[in-house]
Amino acid sequence: MRIIVGITGGIAAYKAPELVRLLKKAGHEVRCAATDHALQFVTRPTLETVSGHPLYCDLFASGGTEHISLKDWGELLVVAPATANIIGKVASGIADDALSTLLLAFSGKPVVMAPAMNSDMWAHPAVQRNIQTLEGWGIRMVGPETGELACGTSGTGRMSEPEDIAEAICNFEFRISNSEKENGDAASSSEFKVQNPKLAGRKWIVTAGPTYERIDSVRFIGNYSSGKMGFALAEALAEAGAEVELVAGPTALQASHPRIHLTRVESAREMYAAATELFPQCNGAILSAAVADYRPGVCADHKLKKQGDEGMTLTLVQNPDILATLGSMKQPGQTLVGFALETDNELANAEGKLQRKNLDYIVLNSLRDQGAGFGVDTNKVTILSRGGSRRDCPLMSKREVAREIVATVTQ
Ligand code: C5P
Repeated sequence: MRIIVGITGGIAAYKAPELVRLLKKAGHEVRCAATDHALQFVTRPTLETVSGHPLYCDLFASGGTEHISLKDWGELLVVAPATANIIGKVASGIADDALSTLLLAFSGKPVVMAPAMNSDMWAHPAVQRNIQTLEGWGIRMVGPETGELACGTSGTGRMSEPEDIAEAICNFEFRISNSEKENGDAASSSEFKVQNPKLAGRKWIVTAGPTYERIDSVRFIGNYSSGKMGFALAEALAEAGAEVELVAGPTALQASHPRIHLTRVESAREMYAAATELFPQCNGAILSAAVADYRPGVCADHKLKKQGDEGMTLTLVQNPDILATLGSMKQPGQTLVGFALETDNELANAEGKLQRKNLDYIVLNSLRDQGAGFGVDTNKVTILSRGGSRRDCPLMSKREVAREIVATVTQ
């Protein structure tokens, strides 16, 4: 591939020449573009020597159109490190130097970014919003990692290691068909996905969203689940190569990937019927739906009228537990993943549920964490395995959390 490595002004810029070297070693042709601030951390001769090409950092050096010729040349643009500044500029459509102008010109072609910044900057709502905007446009993020930061503290914001960025790039399968490539029309698609050999051709079920339990012909008992986490999981599985049966309770969300087959249901019993019918043909299931534990014992076929001045008693009966049922149906080779939303004794309760319901993994999210839970676009989870392993993920977009869960449960 012809890859442009864009470098911005973070301390991690000192690792960029190593990334260029690794990409070249993997057989790619590489050119570099840098911001003025990046050149405070890494020098022009270094980048020109490792890439073997002149550095692009001055918008007007060769008449002011080099961003277009470089855009035509490149098949992939990797920004490493990507500062909060460049992320914000691209999200806002600002093109005020060589690299930001190139990034806008690269519209419609694949872009990967490796964010690097202080953990408080990474957590800032503006940065998180910008990351979501870029991800929504198909820009792929690698990292950031949690660990030691240049400012002397530790937290989330450390740039992924050059080896990991190079490996992630090698794992991206660009959705460019050979005929498009032969026709020289490779620039027509920006979509690409991470290949996962353990998912290609496999079938997985995902449950998503709330359930509505009818009280009468116009009322129901429901909950605040938006379905965003489940839809993101279905997308992540499909992007990685799986065929996905997405069984969703009432939500306005749409599934866009061609490998997702969506079944819409309303109640826990309908979700139970769909999931138990599909599970025997599937390699795995991730049950992220917020299923109502109880439903009204009777559902009136007309609108219930207010009667007298007294209150009203609604008798509830238990719904079937879909996750526990799939746990009892599970055959060797099938993977079952549940979610747990706990408010106290989180770890102990989640571990208990993992054993009791015969799960392979449980994803714990706590409502105590800001930015995690219902309706929001971010989530903070801990993934526990039956074998006793535990992965604490930092606050990330639900898309990123979904990729992390998929990668962990298919190891
Ligand atoms: O036991 P608890 O309801 O907290 O378990 C949550 C997990 O169980 C989630 O994965 C949820 O999708 C699943 N669940 C289910 N059927 C139910 C209730 C919960 O599949 N009736």
